[in-house]
Parts: sequence; structure tokens; C-alpha cells
Amino acid sequence: MRKRIALLASGGGSNAEALMQAMRAGEIDAEPVLLFSNVAGAGALEKAARQGVPTAVLPHQGFASREAFDAAVLGLLAPYRADYLCLAGYLRILTPGFVQAYAGRILNIHPSLLPDFGGPGMHGHHVHQAVLAAGVAASGASVHLVDAGVDTGSIVLQQSVPVLPGDSPASLAARVLGIEHQVYVAALKKLCGGA
Ligand code: GRF
Repeated sequence: MRKRIALLASGGGSNAEALMQAMRAGEIDAEPVLLFSNVAGAGALEKAARQGVPTAVLPHQGFASREAFDAAVLGLLAPYRADYLCLAGYLRILTPGFVQAYAGRILNIHPSLLPDFGGPGMHGHHVHQAVLAAGVAASGASVHLVDAGVDTGSIVLQQSVPVLPGDSPASLAARVLGIEHQVYVAALKKLCGGA
């Protein structure tokens, strides 16, 4: 049975776009049923609209608590009956209630070789800065299932890239992003099947 996928993104959405394209091309046995964003005007929304994927926006500002916001998002998602949620640059830490509602069915991509360089505060350029400061020879991308912790769930797939002499956080981020799309597509395919 074709799986139903909802994508959650806060930013440009290049990972979300790669996933939507792979589903639409029949490479993954799944269909994108919704792209949700907590940021009005996020690039991800436009990318979804271009592919005819339904979109929804709910800004998190104005909610009294993280729990109240997540409850509203759960309500918004419910009618789409998603089998999996793919977090793709979704810059919100999920509450335990949210994770529980989709236990074992939430995927995230993180731009390092987890468990290294993950955890609270490790997002965006902070990750790549920490990798460079540690002087390691390789970094990469990890797709993992989301559990109650931050970046702690079981790893579905990861792939490495070299850290090169003279790398800046930006150049390393670009190299990692280049493989993120392939890794995320391969990970979703692993869970849903596909050609
Ligand atoms: C990616 O680096 C991803 O690993 C991280 O957020 C970034 C999102 O990029 N979680 P994009 O919006 O998919 O282009």
C-alpha cells in the first residue's frame, strides 16, 4: 500500500523538494499528502505548491505553550492520515505528546554523523562550526527516527563526506547538503519501498 507522507519544514525546503520529486517520480512507493510549515513565506511552501502538493501554515508565535502549538499541529495533520512525517529543516523541537502520536513514524535529517555533533543547540551552522573546531576528517548526514530526545532516535541511514583543508562552516554545509537529498530519499525508500 502506498504510504502517505506529510513533510514539515521551516526554511528553504531543498530536502522536502527532493523527497516530493522522488515520490512524484515513483522512485519511492509513497505520496506527499501535505507540506506543513510554521513559517509563513517559507521557501518550502512554494516548492510544494509548484509540485501540486497541498500546503498548510500555522505560525507558532501567539501560542501560549509549545504543547498548545503541537496540539494544534496534530489537529491540522490528522485529516491527512499520514503514515510518516518527514521533518526537513523543521526548526521546532517536538513535545513528547507529538512524538507519541506518531511514535516510530517521524523521520528527521541532521547534517552530521550522529551521534556526533547532535543534541540541543546543534543545528545549522552550529553543527558545521563544531565539526571544524573538533578537527575531524569526515562529516556527513544522518536520517533518524525521532524519539523523545534531541537527535537521539535510531539511525535509518547515514552517509559521510570528507572535511577538507580550508573548509568554512558554509563550504562544509554545502557539501553536506549535497548528499542530504540522496540520503533522505534513500532512507524514505528503505521504509516505504520503491523502484
Ligand atoms: C538541512 O541542513 C537539514 O539537515 C537541517 O536543516 C537544513 C534544511 O535545509 N535539519 P533545507 O530547508 O532542506 O534546504
